[in-house]
Amino acid sequence: MRDLSLHILDIVENSIAAGAKKVEITIEEDTNKNLLVVKIKDNGKGMDKKTLTKALDPFFSTKKIRRIGLGLSMLARATKEAEGSFDIKSKKGRGTRVTAKFVYDHIDRKPIGNMAETIIVLVASNGLKADFIYKHSKNGKSFLFDTRYLKRKLNGVLINQPEVLELLKKRILRELKRIQEGT
Ligand SMILES: Nc1ncnc2c1ncn2[C@@H]1O[C@H](COP(=O)(O)OP(=O)(O)OP(=O)(O)O)[C@@H](O)[C@H]1O
Ligand SMILES: [Mg+2]
Repeated sequence: MRDLSLHILDIVENSIAAGAKKVEITIEEDTNKNLLVVKIKDNGKGMDKKTLTKALDPFFSTKKIRRIGLGLSMLARATKEAEGSFDIKSKKGRGTRVTAKFVYDHIDRKPIGNMAETIIVLVASNGLKADFIYKHSKNGKSFLFDTRYLKRKLNGVLINQPEVLELLKKRILRELKRIQEGT
């Protein structure tokens, strides 16, 4: 996988498969600390100790159709390639938290990619059954995308409507540009 945004999409799909109603995606870019941190936290069904230990094994999956589970192990490998770290914590019945850290300017660190696309795909396919909270910061400049707030503002209009998604995508792109420019 080329971009971290695609890895993130994959990890959040796990959250949805685990029945999560709320998924928090946090990206922190800190060029002073030379660090990129990606966190994905869900309130899905979580994993017991045994499942959690196995979850990082690329040949373990609780999916019935395709008995190969690559999402977590591929992200773990991406962190290793950029001399970062990977951590997963989970509690059965409570939820799961994945943390991936990368050396920001490492030559093998994958680009963040198109986060607007990732968020819009997630909201389009799961926006009615789950809420997404996406926080992105760069060197202290930040923005927040929260479907709980957006749904209230939409006042009954469904969040997965194409016109709404188009507007939300534009907003995310504009905000990302703003924090990248440091304004
Ligand atoms: N957020 C989560 N909550 C509960 N269980 C999880 C979560 N993430 C992963 N798991 C468990 O770990 C297993 C491995 O996850 P992983 O993403 O690596 O593979 P997969 O989802 O099974 O397959 P793939 O991602 O390749 O389609 C899953 O099958 C699931 O049992
Ligand atoms: Mg998966």
